Amino acid sequence: MGSSSRLCATWKAGDPVVLMGVTEIPTGQTVLLIGSGLGNAVLFSIGKALRAAGNKVIYFAGYNLARDRFKVEDVEAAADIVIWSVNKGENVVPFTPTRPQDKTFVGNILEAMIAYGKGELGEQPISLADVDHLIVIGSDRMMDAVKHARFDVLKPYLTKAHHAVGSINSPMQCMMKGICAQCLCKHVDKDSGKEFFVYSCYNQDQDLDKVNFPNLNARLKQNTVQELCLNL
Ligand code: FES
Repeated sequence: MGSSSRLCATWKAGDPVVLMGVTEIPTGQTVLLIGSGLGNAVLFSIGKALRAAGNKVIYFAGYNLARDRFKVEDVEAAADIVIWSVNKGENVVPFTPTRPQDKTFVGNILEAMIAYGKGELGEQPISLADVDHLIVIGSDRMMDAVKHARFDVLKPYLTKAHHAVGSINSPMQCMMKGICAQCLCKHVDKDSGKEFFVYSCYNQDQDLDKVNFPNLNARLKQNTVQELCLNL
């Protein structure tokens, strides 16, 4: 997607890599994974770990274009049921699921969830009403949309009290958990209105209800010039 991705693509097997961060894996819950685009590359490892820990996993995997989909078998292995969706557009053909329980949809990921919740995609082996925990990974705009939809268009379906986290893609620099502060992300406590800041490199999985997405969007935009120059 950008210069850092192209840099990663030059790595060879055996090159040293330093990884930061951790995703907490619950046990015995019904977990809803929502991924768009490259977010799916992260979610399939999380989904596998969730299943191994005895969770039920329902996974909405959304793509802008059909050609953006990759590692299909890994995504399938990450979930008890996958709902594949591709955005509307000229000559868009829905994905063909390879497993009987999986579904396909043309439209955005919120529309896919509403269609599933209404029963328009057929049987629901896992009901959205049973979901205890959500993990959302995608663009800041997609995560913001899911944050609000849970209290609006998705409210009739996500009826159980649940907790939602987003994998927050703040710009990062040192990745040393509190040194450069490039990764600061504004949080707002919705009950008290109190604002505070967290280091995203310390923990990317942040409470969706606390993240202030306009602030995240503004911080991400600060890198636009640098990205354009690097792409040149
Ligand atoms: S990236 Fe430097 S403190 Fe988080």
